[in-house]
Amino acid sequence: MKVWVVGGAGYIGSHVCKALVRAGHEPVVFDNLSTGSKNNLRPGVAFQKGDILDPEALQRAAAEHKFDGVVHLAALKAAGESMLDPVSYSRNNITGSLNLLEAVLAAEIPAFVFSSTAAVYGAPAYLPLDEAHPTTPENYYGHTKLAIEQFLAWYGTLKGLRHVSLRYFNAAGYDPEGDVSGLEKNPANLLPIVMETAMGWRGSMQVFGDDYETPDGSGVRDYIHVSDLADAHVAALEHLHKGGGNLTVNLGTGQGVSVLEMIGRAREITGREIPATIAPRRPGDPAVVIASSAQAERVLGWKARHSDLDTLLKTTWEVYRTSGGS
Ligand code: WQD
Repeated sequence: MKVWVVGGAGYIGSHVCKALVRAGHEPVVFDNLSTGSKNNLRPGVAFQKGDILDPEALQRAAAEHKFDGVVHLAALKAAGESMLDPVSYSRNNITGSLNLLEAVLAAEIPAFVFSSTAAVYGAPAYLPLDEAHPTTPENYYGHTKLAIEQFLAWYGTLKGLRHVSLRYFNAAGYDPEGDVSGLEKNPANLLPIVMETAMGWRGSMQVFGDDYETPDGSGVRDYIHVSDLADAHVAALEHLHKGGGNLTVNLGTGQGVSVLEMIGRAREITGREIPATIAPRRPGDPAVVIASSAQAERVLGWKARHSDLDTLLKTTWEVYRTSGGS
């Protein structure tokens, strides 16, 4: 399959390109390089520099190849920032996605795989979170992703667009073979912050709350290796290509890891001190977020293979340790 990977130069997109090539498909990357990097592009993968806020650039790029499917990962993704600057999130995530959908329909690309998020659920009413859980996002970022899922459902009904929405839980880790090594700029997530502290780029880090009702009092999340996420995109495209129905599926492991557990194991693996202080809870953070991925397993035949804590930490540490940056 020839696959248009929109946002393909970013952290997740670059792993998706690797998984596509490995499965014998041909990715073409469209990216504005605002957060992605040219260093993330795989050798031999065609690149189109452009912005999803430019409808004509999208239409030209869509017409350049005969695409069998599109993977849409181009978005702003910092939940905290979305509460301070919702307009940028509306513009990039919602307007940009509508532009892309228009280009996809005009070019008659038959399959659409969308990068969605567990943030669509909001605070868990029960655990593990399955796809039937109510969707009441607690941050604006989650709202934008849910809105796009809803556009996809409508375009499915009205225009016959075939689609899969993949709701990622906490993406982490790097390619175990070391083929992707672009660091995220200004990371806001736990694991990169742990690594930046291990490298000494930050003097210390904060643990947001140690008084949750969890075994060690710190927040528990479902960390999913980015290469496992990437494989799910290939499975979703192949599912649609074989005539499978539209889907919305969780991607997680069903296992929780606490903040203190993450830092403790990171100290062992990196051999670094990683100074951490206990800070107040971060507003809006639930105590525990864990996925049920039963549907992805049943329908897509997908299962996490690299998402154990040590692989998450070791593959990430390898990239930081050898980055030479600061
Ligand atoms: C993980 C845990 C923090 C930083 C977010 C988005 C979600 C999804 C994934 C994209 C929490 C704790 C963190 C720190 C800490 N993104 N923490 N000190 O909040 O679970 O989910 O990223 O789709 O939509 O909301 O991820 O990595 O920020 O936090 O103690 O310096 O680490 O409180 O328990 P989160 P995270």
